[in-house]
Amino acid sequence: MAIFTFDASHSLGKVRAVDTRRVNVQVNNDEDLRKARVGQLVALSLPGAVEEWLIGIIDKVIKTPVLEEQSIIEATDSDEPLAMALPRESVLNSVQLTLVGTVGLTTGNKMRFSRSLVQVPEIDGTCHILRDAQLQTFMGLLSAEGKTEQSLEIGRYTIDESAKAYLDGNKLFQRHASLLGSTGSGKSWTVASVLEQAAKLPSSNLIVFDLHGEYRELSYARHLRIPGPEDLGKTDDSLLFLPYWLLNAEELQAMFIDRSEFSAHNQVMAFQDTVVTEKKKTLEELKKTEVLNAFTLDSPVPFDIQNVLAELKRLNEEMVQGSRGDKQGPFYGQFSRLLVRLNSKVSDKRYGFLFQAPASEHQYESMAKMVTRLMDYATDKAQIKVIDFSEVPADILPVIVGLVARIIYQVQFWTDRGKRRPMALVCDEAHLYLPKKDGKNPVEQRAIENFEKIAKEGRKYGVALLIISQRPSDVSSTILSQCNNVIALRLSNGDDQATVRRLMPESLEGLMDTLPILDIGEALIVGDAVLLPSRIRIHPPTEKPLSATIDFWNEWNKKPDKPDFAKAVENMRRQNRA
Ligand SMILES: Nc1ncnc2c1ncn2[C@@H]1O[C@H](COP(=O)(O)OP(=O)(O)O)[C@@H](O)[C@H]1O
Ligand SMILES: [Mg+2]
Repeated sequence: MAIFTFDASHSLGKVRAVDTRRVNVQVNNDEDLRKARVGQLVALSLPGAVEEWLIGIIDKVIKTPVLEEQSIIEATDSDEPLAMALPRESVLNSVQLTLVGTVGLTTGNKMRFSRSLVQVPEIDGTCHILRDAQLQTFMGLLSAEGKTEQSLEIGRYTIDESAKAYLDGNKLFQRHASLLGSTGSGKSWTVASVLEQAAKLPSSNLIVFDLHGEYRELSYARHLRIPGPEDLGKTDDSLLFLPYWLLNAEELQAMFIDRSEFSAHNQVMAFQDTVVTEKKKTLEELKKTEVLNAFTLDSPVPFDIQNVLAELKRLNEEMVQGSRGDKQGPFYGQFSRLLVRLNSKVSDKRYGFLFQAPASEHQYESMAKMVTRLMDYATDKAQIKVIDFSEVPADILPVIVGLVARIIYQVQFWTDRGKRRPMALVCDEAHLYLPKKDGKNPVEQRAIENFEKIAKEGRKYGVALLIISQRPSDVSSTILSQCNNVIALRLSNGDDQATVRRLMPESLEGLMDTLPILDIGEALIVGDAVLLPSRIRIHPPTEKPLSATIDFWNEWNKKPDKPDFAKAVENMRRQNRA
């Protein structure tokens, strides 16, 4: 059986140089060069093997002028004949390829593609363009090999739209993945497309961090929402309060302590001491002796923040007996500013999801209930959980997203090994809470550390990350570089392109040049989840995410309602839009 049958019309040229995976092919002539485009597939014959071909991707198409020396004797007007060498310019056509795998026949005479390279091509070996029937044969083979039990149908190959493109669902999540592209390039649709397919599995487990409420209407998902000011006091099953006692010491400090203050050190000490005392009190009242023996400042144990405030106030005003009457206590006046900060946060409705949760959320058992809502996968609509963070104030967004991720990771860590189920965290708009580290404030630092831990160790405990961003150059590079699969949609910004380039194998430089010209919903996918680095048109999801984009011009083009600014101003004062 012949795998490919090539004729002269497929011929591109001959191999001129080989450097591991890179091959330089000298193209026959100008006409043949026109067949070559970056990203196109080629087949190279192997010495001795009739039915074995190396497959490569064209990475560069090169035309170089070369000067050929030619001796010409020309007669001039003068009597003396002038002998001189006149250089003649010609053009050398060549292409640079990256080898991506081998097609061959198995012993059972079946066609097979493998990513391994058994041999290097021979100098002067022929290079053929894969197109028409040959391309279809190969893409059909790729599709067939890609379609397995664990495959996820992501779209169709750009070079042959009749061929379906599959991702290996195991490999995609095993070593984390990133989804990068400019605004409007199709990230949210791609996410929805992946979620939709995951939702069809009997017990998938994905948690989506939704920063703009884009996924809030997906019918197959469970919806949770961090309450905003107007949700306080409501009873709504979808509200996800995050009581302040879930924060660990560092997260609490990041929120309350101003490191630039002279008394910061004392503030931290006093704050921690009172929190520990209060947590201990809770555990003693509940007679949790085992926990009492092991608990630390970081343990998520309910306590009353009002007691902490009262104690700090007492210390701040404390007078002690001196030799000549009363004098100011050791912390006198040192906590004044801390108290102002604490009090204002505790009563600010925008932080209500932390400090104004209903009493039922402050029970010892409430954390287990909350975790069940977050991590459950066994009941109806529990496989995909969407958490809407759109009401969380930007200044503490990193801490809050980091808190949720940390809780999930720690619960997974402390689950019995045999009972652990793999799960993925889908982190949309990651640049908002996972920024590059240099010079960042403590609030951001905390979130990054929580995620870095997952990026580095999550694999062991079955926690995968899917990092999504429109500004890859602003996302923590520690986290991005841990993502082994990259789905790159159109990227127009130069810094972002450079970042993505660094995440890709070096040999694919030419392919990366296509980043700014990709169509909407078209991606370059590189990593072990695909059989070869490919340009893929991603299937639009059946259920679309809501667009976060406001169509200014269209809105301005409508006849408007009467504005009511007085109401908005009053809403602002009473912190409620209702
Ligand atoms: N796979 C796709 N196929 C066709 N159109 C798409 C696809 N993905 C996105 N689009 C179009 O692009 C728009 C923006 O997509 P979206 O996913 O919201 O972008 P992003 O999240 O990157 O800002 C969508 O409203 C849709 O019209
Ligand atoms: Mg989006």
